[in-house]
Amino acid sequence: MSLEHGFLLLRSPLLSLEAFLWVLHLVGTIALWLSPGGIAWARFRSKTSFSIPGPVGLPLLGLLTVFNGSTPHRVLAKLAKTLNAVKLMVFSVGFTRFIISSDPETARDILHNSAFADRPVKESAYELLFHRAMGFAPFGDYWRNLRRISATHLFSPKRIAGFEGYRREIGIKMMDEINGIMKAGDEVQIKKVLHFGSLNNVMATVFGKKYDFEKVGEGYELEELVSEGYELLGIFNWSDHFPLICWLDLQGVRKRCRNLVSRVNVFVGKIIEEHRLKRLIEGLNDDNCNVGEFVDVLLDLEKHEKLADSDMIAVLWEMIFRGTDTVAILLEWILARMVLHPEVQAKAQAEIDSVVGKSKHVSDSDIHNLPYLQAIVKETLRVHPPGPLLSWARLAIHDVHVGDYFVPAGTTAMVNMWAITHDEKLWEEPERFKPERFMEEDISILGCDLRLAPFGSGRRVCPGRAMGLATVHLWLAQLLQRFKWIPSENRNVDLTEHLKLSLEMKNPLVCRAIPRVP
Ligand code: HEM
Repeated sequence: MSLEHGFLLLRSPLLSLEAFLWVLHLVGTIALWLSPGGIAWARFRSKTSFSIPGPVGLPLLGLLTVFNGSTPHRVLAKLAKTLNAVKLMVFSVGFTRFIISSDPETARDILHNSAFADRPVKESAYELLFHRAMGFAPFGDYWRNLRRISATHLFSPKRIAGFEGYRREIGIKMMDEINGIMKAGDEVQIKKVLHFGSLNNVMATVFGKKYDFEKVGEGYELEELVSEGYELLGIFNWSDHFPLICWLDLQGVRKRCRNLVSRVNVFVGKIIEEHRLKRLIEGLNDDNCNVGEFVDVLLDLEKHEKLADSDMIAVLWEMIFRGTDTVAILLEWILARMVLHPEVQAKAQAEIDSVVGKSKHVSDSDIHNLPYLQAIVKETLRVHPPGPLLSWARLAIHDVHVGDYFVPAGTTAMVNMWAITHDEKLWEEPERFKPERFMEEDISILGCDLRLAPFGSGRRVCPGRAMGLATVHLWLAQLLQRFKWIPSENRNVDLTEHLKLSLEMKNPLVCRAIPRVP
């Protein structure tokens, strides 16, 4: 027997053992992947109480392709129905474990449970310093402190009322801008105007800064920074779900975030320095400072609450960032609906004309006398919730039970608010845009009724909801009082959605604004 032959004999059983182990591994992997919820849930299957239904998804990838699409909220709602998993559904995206609820009661159990008071920090959020701002800060003293400070100095009813002048003035500027655009052409792409107005509003309340509608300068640069940040946070980043390839930064998110952060540091840092200098020149200090803008509040707190410069930049940047797009996107959806439903628009205008008149400026105090206008806002939040998956998910800090279901620590929890607001068991004709439903039944949208909670609920409910609503109500009243909104001659209103960080119109609204009073 040749040596070679001997080796072959020796090797063949080894080979078959190898092959056997390989097959075993393959079968094991397939079995794990086939477990309800996909691979990230595989090791929890042995838990006796684990029986939450969920889709298997693609091998290794799980539901990744769903999140890469434009309407994951719709796909997840359909899956939950098909799998009889409306209360709670599990799924995986790569190695990340998710639960999602499309049911108001279970949503409450999640959002109000202290076990879900954290948020998963995506790589982009971390790189953009958001873990030091309120929205992504871990639940604890630092976060509590930021919530308290902003509740008192930015979002209190007194402060919101104090900013009315800014809001009204910016609303008037937006309308002049729309007038100018309509005179120059025959249609207006409204999102651009709303976005700049919204950015201006936040800058005025946070920094006392105002910008003109122009294509150059500081305001324009800031707009670029906010849009880039929004895009980066909205990107579905592979690194968040595949830790092993994280270092590759395949989509270039980390690189872009670092670049953006250095620009934001310079931009916001410069404004903070201007305020410091002003305080020095005017002799303002902690004891005699007449606090105006939010930045001054933070500077005032520096000594006692020890906010480092980088923390302050993060907090201020988050306010600019969050307050801008949400308001602009919601108003764009509302105007799209006004163009599509002229009878609703006419009814709202008749209400405004009878309460305020055709030429007197609308003010905050008029809003509570405009119930139909408020109903339009609610109905738009129902049909097109800006955060259909509540945008910023929650993270289980420790093992917890949701109803009878066991949920392990480290699971990302989501609420499909879009599924809830389109559930025919909860809403009559859910697909129909019908503000009248809110004239018949008064439903709070601030977080206590989970049938319609576009601002979330529980400890981490949106702290800017009253400010956001005050802005949307006032500007909508101004826009409807001044213009009649009609379709563009060249383009139909297209309600196709695209979920980025918020639920946007895939094709921005282009329409015509005809002055109601010549
Ligand atoms: C139409 C306007 C708005 C909508 C639809 C909206 C929606 C949301 C939602 C769904 C959440 C997550 C809530 C949860 O996890 O339960 C949130 C959080 C947050 N929002 Fe808003 N928001 C709006 C306006 C604003 C404004 C104007 C600001 C500030 C200027 C703001 C600041 C924040 C912050 C800081 C958080 C994080 C809170 C935390 O984690 O403690 N939002 N918002």
